Amino acid sequence: MADIPGPAFFIGKGDDTLISFGSGQPDMPPPRQAFDILKTYSAFKYGLIQGEVSLLTELAKEYPGSRPEDFVVTNGASEAIDLVLRVIARPKGKVLLPRPYYYSYPHNVHFAGMTPVYYDLEKGKINFETFKEALEGCSAVMINSPSNPTGTVQEVETLKQIEKLCEEKGTYVISDEVYKDIIYVRENYLLHGPRVVTVNSFSKTYGMCGLRVGYVYSQNKKLIEDIIEMKTHTAMNTSTVGQMMALAALRSPKSYIAHNLETWKTRRDLMFNGMKELGLDLWSPEGAFYVLPKFKNSTQAMSDLYHTHKVITYDGAWFGAPGRLRFSYALDEQKIIEGLRRVREFLGREYASYS
Ligand SMILES: Cc1ncc(COP(=O)(O)O)c(C=O)c1O
Repeated sequence: MADIPGPAFFIGKGDDTLISFGSGQPDMPPPRQAFDILKTYSAFKYGLIQGEVSLLTELAKEYPGSRPEDFVVTNGASEAIDLVLRVIARPKGKVLLPRPYYYSYPHNVHFAGMTPVYYDLEKGKINFETFKEALEGCSAVMINSPSNPTGTVQEVETLKQIEKLCEEKGTYVISDEVYKDIIYVRENYLLHGPRVVTVNSFSKTYGMCGLRVGYVYSQNKKLIEDIIEMKTHTAMNTSTVGQMMALAALRSPKSYIAHNLETWKTRRDLMFNGMKELGLDLWSPEGAFYVLPKFKNSTQAMSDLYHTHKVITYDGAWFGAPGRLRFSYALDEQKIIEGLRRVREFLGREYASYS
């Protein structure tokens, strides 16, 4: 029963009777400093297309060897991905995507007039040999570590091999790092180099999904110029007040990120252990805030969980992983516990009769 056509059915939905393991949006508030600027903020004219100079300057401090002019501030990572793909789609080519993937990637590639090509992750991890084979004839590749929806983190060695191979072949590496600060297993390794185009956002690290502030970083001057040109004739500048809130967040003490990471770890343990106790088959989460357990007939399971148990989950099929459900654990502990109780109920009732 495909009565839930896609993520748009759930995005923004929420009432007190629902437990939403759906949308990937942090429930922690942004740093206090981000709100403080609102008391005096009064600039509502068009802003610079590339982004406010103060924010570009602050961003450059985050990436060793970068300059303010290497960045473009965008409407979230979403606009960043869209602009990068549409700019590199001249000439049109193939883009290599991991499977499972973030559900927008194939759409973004199609909207840019390009063709997605897939390689399968193994338990959420890149097998470099499989990657290398699949890369043949592609003009770009998307990397997302930590990943939505797998919750896995790629090995540093693999990421370095990818950097080297793509540099040799002249392939763009679009590194979607929106979960770079939510990583449990090690320090993050940020892909870098002349072919790397970094995409990031204030949505996840700073709990600012609705503000729509993200950015692109690349040392390729022509690429940055082309992105600015395209943005000039599409969205124009990114919300200026959003940018100033993002700037205040970026300048706030890093203890905000460390504190939130502790909260994420507690939730991850609760979720992972809870799912194991339910007998579900899943990978151990290494970053981001998702788990992707196996479920027979995932489309039906999502529908039953929603209609009968008031639990929102996302069908793995939307991420190229049918037979799995994605659960986001961006919700407080009490809700996670209640959600797991409802999943247990579902497993003992409707799910028990699935063939
Ligand atoms: C992997 C990945 N990339 C990009 C985005 C879009 O983020 P933004 O809110 O910055 O547009 C998301 C949001 O869930 C995501 O999970």
